[in-house]
Amino acid sequence: EERLKGGVTFIVLGASGDLAKKKTFPALFALFQNSFLPRNTTIVGYARTKMDSAAFYSRIEPYLKPKQDDPKKSVQEFLKMCHYVPGQYDDEKCWEDLDRYVSDLETKHSLKDEQKNRIFYMALPPSVFVSVADGLRKHVYSKTASTSIIIEKPFGKDLESCRALLQDIQKLYKEDEVYRIDHYLGKELAKNIMTVRFANMIFCPLWSRVHIDSVQITMKEPFGTEGRGGYFDEFGIIRDVMQNHLLQLMSLVAMERPVGRDAESIRDEKVKVLKCVKPIELKDTLLGQFVKSGDKPGYLDDDTVPKGSLCPTFAAMVLWIDNERWADVPFILKAGKALDNGKVDIRIQFKKLHGSLFEGVARNELVFHVQPGEAIYMKFNNKCPGFSDDSMITELDLTYRTRYKNLKVPEAYEALVLDALRGDHSNFVRNDELIASWKIFTPLLHQIEKEKIKPEPYLYGSRGPKQLNGFVRSYGVERLAHE
Ligand code: BG6
Repeated sequence: EERLKGGVTFIVLGASGDLAKKKTFPALFALFQNSFLPRNTTIVGYARTKMDSAAFYSRIEPYLKPKQDDPKKSVQEFLKMCHYVPGQYDDEKCWEDLDRYVSDLETKHSLKDEQKNRIFYMALPPSVFVSVADGLRKHVYSKTASTSIIIEKPFGKDLESCRALLQDIQKLYKEDEVYRIDHYLGKELAKNIMTVRFANMIFCPLWSRVHIDSVQITMKEPFGTEGRGGYFDEFGIIRDVMQNHLLQLMSLVAMERPVGRDAESIRDEKVKVLKCVKPIELKDTLLGQFVKSGDKPGYLDDDTVPKGSLCPTFAAMVLWIDNERWADVPFILKAGKALDNGKVDIRIQFKKLHGSLFEGVARNELVFHVQPGEAIYMKFNNKCPGFSDDSMITELDLTYRTRYKNLKVPEAYEALVLDALRGDHSNFVRNDELIASWKIFTPLLHQIEKEKIKPEPYLYGSRGPKQLNGFVRSYGVERLAHE
C-alpha cells in the first residue's frame, strides 16, 4: 500500500475484550491470509488484564479460522506478528511504556520516521473511551507519520451526549484521522446498494414515490440479551441497532445520486437525505419486550436487568422523508431480539398495477437479503408455465451462494479494516451524519423515557408483538405470498 509505505503498527485497545477477540483479531487474520496487510505490519494488543503473550495467544487463537487449504501454519505466522502489553487506561506511565514498546518494534523493522504509521483500534467500553483517546494522543501519537483512530458505537446516547463526544474527539484528532465504524456499512449487500441503484438504468427512473409504495428494513435476531442485559438495558433496541445500522441502510436506499464515488461525495448525500427525515413520532412507533416462552427466559428474568425495566427489545417505527423523491412513502424500520429467526433484509415494495387486464396480481418487490446468505431478488409476476394462462408471483433471483460459487464474502470487519488501511472513509460515519441521525431519534427516545411508555409483551421465539401485522398493514404494505 502506497499510503502505509514502510510499515504499520496496529494497536488494539481493549484487546482482552469480546469485540477484539471475536471481530478485530479475526478480521486482521483474514486480511493477513489474503495478503492484504502491508509489509512490516505489527499488531499490539493492549488492555488492563495482566497476562503474557502466550496466554493472550491462547485467548484469540480459537477465533482465527484458517482457510481450508491452509491449516494452522498461517495462524502461527500471524501470532508471531502479535504482541500483548498490559496497562491501565488512565496512567501516563503506562502510555509511555506502550509508546516505547511500539518504538522498539519500529526500530526492529528499521522504519525511518516517515515510515512510522500507527493505527489505534478502540475496542473499548464508552466509559474509558475519551481518557484512552487522550492518553494515546499525548503519548503514543506518532509525530512523524500518519495516525488513524478507529472507533465504534455507542456514539453517545442522544443528540447532546453525541455532540459532547464528538467535541472531545475533535480536540484530539483531525476528522480525516478518525474512522467511525458502523459495521453494517461493511456488509457486502450494504456496499452493493449504490451499485444496484445507480449502475442499472432500469432502476434509476423507478426509484421514487411515483413507483415505490413503501420500504421496509428489518433486522431479526433469534437470541435474547442473555449475558449483556446490563449494557443493553442502558441503550435498548432503538439505540443499539436502529439509530445506526438500520438508518445507515435506509440512507443508502434513499439518498440522491452522489457526484462521485469518493467518501465525501457519498457522505454528503447521506447527510442531505437524513436532514430531510422528520423526527420520529410516537404514533408511528410500536415497542415490544420479550417474555418467557417454554424454557426460554423473558427479558426481565435476566438478573443483570433492573426489575420492572421498560427497555424495548423490539421496535417498529415509520420514518418519513420530506423531499420530492420520497414524500408520503413510509420507511418502516423493524428490529427485535428473541424473535422467530435471524435475518436482515430490505424490501422495496412497488405500487399496485392499474387497469383490469391483470387485476389483483401481487405487487413487485425488490429484496436485498443482507444476511444470512446474501441475495437480491425481485418478486415478479409470471405466466404459470404450461397450459394455464393464469399469472403467478415468482422471483428473479440472484443468490450469491449459487451465482458466485467459489466466493467467500468478506466479513464486515474485514472489509472495514481494509478500508481504514487504505485510507478510504466511504464506509465510515462522518460527524455530521451522526448529528443528523440523532436529531431524528432523540425527541422520540426522550418521550419514551419521560412518559414511561410500556412496551408490548411478545413471546421469546415469536414474530414480535401481536399488534405488528396490523401496524405494518396500516401503512399500506401488502404481505406477498411465498412460493
Ligand atoms: C451490534 C449490536 O451492533 O450488532 C448487537 O450491539 C447486534 O446487539 C449486532 O446483535 C448485530 O450484528 P450482526 O452483524 O450480527 O448482524
